[in-house]
Amino acid sequence: MRGIILSGGAATRLRPCTKITSKQLLPIYNRPMIYYPLNTLIKAGIKEILIIVSPERAGDYLNLLGSGKEFGVKFTYEIQDKPGGLPEAFIIGENFIDQENVAMILGDNIFEDDFSEDIKNFKSGAKVFAKKVTDPERFGVVKMDSRMKAEKIVEKPKEWVSDYAVTGLYLYDHRVVEVAKNLKPSQRNELEIVDLHNWYLEKGELEVALVQGEWIDAGTFDSLLRAQNLAKEKLHQNLII
Ligand code: TTP
Repeated sequence: MRGIILSGGAATRLRPCTKITSKQLLPIYNRPMIYYPLNTLIKAGIKEILIIVSPERAGDYLNLLGSGKEFGVKFTYEIQDKPGGLPEAFIIGENFIDQENVAMILGDNIFEDDFSEDIKNFKSGAKVFAKKVTDPERFGVVKMDSRMKAEKIVEKPKEWVSDYAVTGLYLYDHRVVEVAKNLKPSQRNELEIVDLHNWYLEKGELEVALVQGEWIDAGTFDSLLRAQNLAKEKLHQNLII
């Protein structure tokens, strides 16, 4: 299994803090934010990790993280010229993924769970990780059957579909590259991850697992503060990097 951390984006909701740096380099208690998703991948045994960054910040990431030797893994870097949507990661990462399975994590998603077993046992298709929330209209949500196969997946639903938000960790087989290449941009001119998931869903190959521990998308000032507190109270003790 290869790993990708998507760490570009515009981070408009955290202005002015992100005017001169990347969101995923802001501190979460005593580590830069990206250490948390990085820790999630490394703890799950992933040794080859592609870090996708914006052109303005590429040098900062290289200075901070280097080759990966310090963490016992190998980092590769790629530039995303403009934020064109999450599935672009698989087009940018085509050569890196090659014929392997891939785990993608968003650079601003903080998880308490250990995903080692899901990642080790993943064979083919796609798998998303869902968490029950009280405000599902803010997220991509997924409805699943009793065998945890996805039945419906919708981005920011206007009508209620499910209370389970799709979090920022995803597993795919290598077909994800071709699927991403064939997606059409949405009205906001981005490739949409929900379209990619619907391709797997229609084939009956989109599985869902539940996130047991805390999950924070640290993209707003309030969630950033919650992430800081969670890191101080709990998470920093379990970091291996
Ligand atoms: P978002 O939080 O949806 O977008 P953003 O980080 O640009 O923030 P804002 O909405 O405040 O402008 O992105 C989720 C994660 O994915 C985040 O870690 C940035 C990353 N991302 C990319 O790297 N490239 C992209 O094209 C997009 C859409 C997101």
